[in-house]
Amino acid sequence: MSLHVTILPGDGIGPEVTEAAERVLAVACEAAGIGLRTDHELFGGAAIDATGDPFPEKTRHACLTCDAVLLGAVGGPRWDEAAKTGGPRPEKGLLALRSAMGLFANLRPSRLFPGMEDASPLRPERVEGTDVLIVRELTGGVYFGEKTEGTEAASDLMPYSRAEVERVVRVAFEAARGRKKHLTSVDKANVLATSRLWRHAVEALAPDYPDVTVDHVLVDAMAMHLTTRPARFDVVVTENLFGDVLSDELSAVVGSIGLAASASLGEPGKPGVYEPIHGSAPDIAGQSAANPAGAILSAAMLLRHSGDAPEAAARIEAAVEAALGQGLRTRDLGGSASTEDFTKAVLAAL
Ligand code: NAD
Ligand code: IPM
Ligand code: MN
Repeated sequence: MSLHVTILPGDGIGPEVTEAAERVLAVACEAAGIGLRTDHELFGGAAIDATGDPFPEKTRHACLTCDAVLLGAVGGPRWDEAAKTGGPRPEKGLLALRSAMGLFANLRPSRLFPGMEDASPLRPERVEGTDVLIVRELTGGVYFGEKTEGTEAASDLMPYSRAEVERVVRVAFEAARGRKKHLTSVDKANVLATSRLWRHAVEALAPDYPDVTVDHVLVDAMAMHLTTRPARFDVVVTENLFGDVLSDELSAVVGSIGLAASASLGEPGKPGVYEPIHGSAPDIAGQSAANPAGAILSAAMLLRHSGDAPEAAARIEAAVEAALGQGLRTRDLGGSASTEDFTKAVLAAL
């Protein structure tokens, strides 16, 4: 078997964590007899600097023709500043990539790794047993609706079609089937029309999955529940912006955003994009302080979802768990291990 992966290091800590993930991916593929081919393309701020465009045509072509994309992160203060006077935004490239590749379902798992209780802001008895998969809608809603920019008035429309809701909700139902068979749909149906459409679509699909228990929770209450009783949830499905916010919250609840991986998927058989959920972390970039676990675990998700290699994926996950179990912790987890120290420990455990 062979696997062609396009790597988009991006900005800030993006190149630091993707380098770590690529090394781990290479070793895991070698051990599993998978022929790995990688190419590296410009993306985000780095692509703006080189070409003026955050998502150049060459990068687009590479992403659409490979088996999977491994992405670091994009953005930074330099481009934020330039955007104030009309410069291109790195983040716009990321949205264009997701849209061009049809990545409507973003899987963001967060679980408490053994021994990580003390890294959680919650008391151990509250966080214990937390293992939640957030399924975030990724190509619709307020991110992609019509915008009016302005310094006196502005607007962002939040459109959703029934079909857009159904396809991502089906992904969440299927995921729940393979887990604890509990699906929580999060919305703001007491205020938003799109949320009422969302809830209606979920209720209409539920009879197709009689083995899955469904409940509905309003997003404000959900933000609270995730900090008081996160372990009671299994699969959570929600729209784009709510999923963005709740997944960062949940990642911190189980220790650190530096541990959180993701898979962005479209139609079956099409390439997926795998990236940690964190950003370019300009505050720690260049210090070898970044936690590469989120990127490494994203490489594991790549093997599972785009490489048809669940055993190799599980081996990477076990190696990350082993490194954490040995007490190797980067600064975000209260330790002093460098990116390189942690990566080496994962490679050794592999
Ligand atoms: P961020 O996720 O980059 O950082 C938030 C905090 O978490 C910072 O204190 C950072 O040091 C810490 N952190 C993040 N990842 C870490 C890791 N792997 N190891 C250790 N600590 C880590 O969010 P931000 O500061 O709000 O955004 C910075 C830039 O990143 C912005 O330009 C934003 O648009 C962009 N961003 C990009 C993506 C992406 O490319 N997918 C995601 C989120 C934010
Ligand atoms: C993420 C990021 C992006 C998002 C930004 C950078 C556009 O926060 O991947 O979670 O909001 O989706
Ligand atoms: Mn985010």
